Amino acid sequence: MKPVGIKDNVFWVGAIDWNERDFHNFLTRRGLTYNSYLIVDEKVTLVDTVKHKFVKESLDRIKKIVDPSQIDYIVMNHIEPDHSSGLPDMMRIAENATVVCSQRAKDGICKYYDCDGWNIKVVKGGDELKIGTRTLMFIDMTMLHWPDSMATYLKEDKLLFSNDAFGQHVASEERFDEELGVEETINWAKLYYANILMPLAGLIKKKLSEVQNLGLEIEMIAPSHGVIWKNPGKIIEAYSRWANFESENKVVVVFDTMWHSTERLAEAIAEGAGSEGAEVRVFHVRKDSWTDIVTEILDAKSVAIGAPTIHNGLFPPVAGFLTYLKGLKPQNKKALTFGSYGWNGNGVKEIQKVLEELKFETLEPLMVKFKPSEEELQRAFDLGAELAR
Ligand code: FEO
Repeated sequence: MKPVGIKDNVFWVGAIDWNERDFHNFLTRRGLTYNSYLIVDEKVTLVDTVKHKFVKESLDRIKKIVDPSQIDYIVMNHIEPDHSSGLPDMMRIAENATVVCSQRAKDGICKYYDCDGWNIKVVKGGDELKIGTRTLMFIDMTMLHWPDSMATYLKEDKLLFSNDAFGQHVASEERFDEELGVEETINWAKLYYANILMPLAGLIKKKLSEVQNLGLEIEMIAPSHGVIWKNPGKIIEAYSRWANFESENKVVVVFDTMWHSTERLAEAIAEGAGSEGAEVRVFHVRKDSWTDIVTEILDAKSVAIGAPTIHNGLFPPVAGFLTYLKGLKPQNKKALTFGSYGWNGNGVKEIQKVLEELKFETLEPLMVKFKPSEEELQRAFDLGAELAR
C-alpha cells in the first residue's frame, strides 16, 4: 500500500474498492475509489477520510509518509458516509487533530458519530487556513450535492480538492486522467454526473461561473472518487456541456414488454430514428442497467419510453425507472410514449404524465391494442423518424 505523490509533499492516500458493484443503486461495474489526500507542511493535513472498512488501507499509505497520530487537521469536505464513516477511527488515532468543516457538516458529523471531545473548526466559503508554507481556501458547495458540501483549494499548488464534484466511479491502479486515458476518464465522469449530479444542473452552472469569477487558477483537480485531473479544463468544459444539456444527434428508446408487442414497437421506433441518421440506443428496463440508461439520456435529443399496461396501470419496472428518471430531472428532450394494452392504455398515459411533468416536448402517444398490425408498426417507424428529425 503505497501513497502516490501528486504535488510536492501532497499525496494520494486513499483506498481502492475493486469489488463493490452497487453504490446506492449506481452500478459500479469497475468498482470505485475513496480518495483521501495528505498535505505535509508545518501542520500535517488530511483532506477527506475514506469509507470505514478501508481505513486500514488509507492508514497504511499515510504511515509511509508520517505517523498518523501527528495529523493536525482533517478537512471534511462532505459527510456522506462513503467519506465520513472512516472519521471516528481516524480521530481515535489522530486524537489531537482538529476537524475542519462547514457548520452543516459539523451538525451532521455529530449526528452520525459520537463527536464528544473532538476539536471541530467550522469554516465557510472564502475562509482561509494557513498550514505553514501553504494556504487552504474553502469554497462553499452547498447542495453540490449535499447541504454540508464544500471544496478546498490549496492556493500555492493551484490544486482543487473538489470532493464528489468531477469524480468518477472507477477502480484503477492509475491515479491520473492521462494514465487511465483522458477520454475514458470523461466517460466515467459522465456516468457519475448523470446519476448523481444531473438534477443539480442549475446550481452547477452557477458554481462554475462563480469559480471563474473568483479567478482561481486550477492546475489540478483532485476529486474524492476516481482519478485526478491533470487536465482540469477538459472536465470543466464537459460539466458545462452536461449542465446545459447540450445534446447529440441521438434517440434513446427505453421499454419493457410482456408478450413482445411493446418490444416490436420499440424496434420499429428505433429503426425509424436510425433511418434519419440518428444514433440509436435501445434499452430494456429489466435487462439493462438504469445507470447506463440515464447516462445515455443525459445528452440525447429525444427519448421514447414504452410499457404495456398491467392491472389497469403502469408496468411496475417502468414505474420504478420513471421514479429514478424524474428525480434526475433531465431537460430539453423531445419524447414519445408508447405501449400495447388489452382493454385500457393506462400504462402509457402514466408515462406521458411523467414526461410532461419533466417538461419534455411530447408527440401524440402511440397505443396499440394487443399486437401491433403492419400499419401500427409503420406508424411507430414514422414516429421514430419524427423524433430523430
Ligand atoms: Fe462520495 Fe456524496 O459522497
